[in-house]
Amino acid sequence: MKIFIDTANLDEIKELASWGIVDGVTTNPTLVAKSGRSFNEIIDEIFEIVDGPISLEVVSEKADDMVKEAKKLVNKISQKFRKNIAIKIPINPEGLKAVKLLTKEKIKTNVTLIFSANQALLAAKAGATYVSPFIGRLDDIGHEGMQIIEDIVNIFYNYDIETEVIVASIRHPIHVIEAARIGADIATIPPDVIKKMVKHSLTDIGIKNFLSDWDKVKK
Ligand code: G3P
Repeated sequence: MKIFIDTANLDEIKELASWGIVDGVTTNPTLVAKSGRSFNEIIDEIFEIVDGPISLEVVSEKADDMVKEAKKLVNKISQKFRKNIAIKIPINPEGLKAVKLLTKEKIKTNVTLIFSANQALLAAKAGATYVSPFIGRLDDIGHEGMQIIEDIVNIFYNYDIETEVIVASIRHPIHVIEAARIGADIATIPPDVIKKMVKHSLTDIGIKNFLSDWDKVKK
């Protein structure tokens, strides 16, 4: 399973990319706002740090405007990084139209705010490169978010659909294990969850013990 990092925070992206575990980045307007920097300031740097798919979201509401905004974003990125851009488009009728148009122009899309397998199926039919089902937000309202991942992965497998499934709105490490068990293509994970994934108290105790035993050997 590929790991994308779900943040627009440059320090976090740099740090986790240095671990060698980041295959791509997903951002959204909320994450850009949280980063405290302007969108224009950060996008170039993100592309410099990670050589993999980088999702940037449009905020227009009509298909034609989404397409215009997407093209503007693509043109903002230097030529050498353009292969990595994926335009995040919300799932609704205008979004589907935009995906169809962008696919025709060979611009990658990541259809976001997916909360049902049917939405994912429609996005794939329209030509989406990626779909992003939000599992944490489904869990929040008492639905089993991971169930739709299982459904989407099965449906895409049944029909050889090439659209990749990005498990999004991940809240804790168990979500990541479940996504991998199901066989999702990608999990986009917030930095704090990645930091929890690497931790184990027995690892910390083990390192401490090895170091103190090694001290004794030297004496
Ligand atoms: O990529 C955005 C998605 O992961 C949102 O997560 O935590 O705001 O539901 P959250």
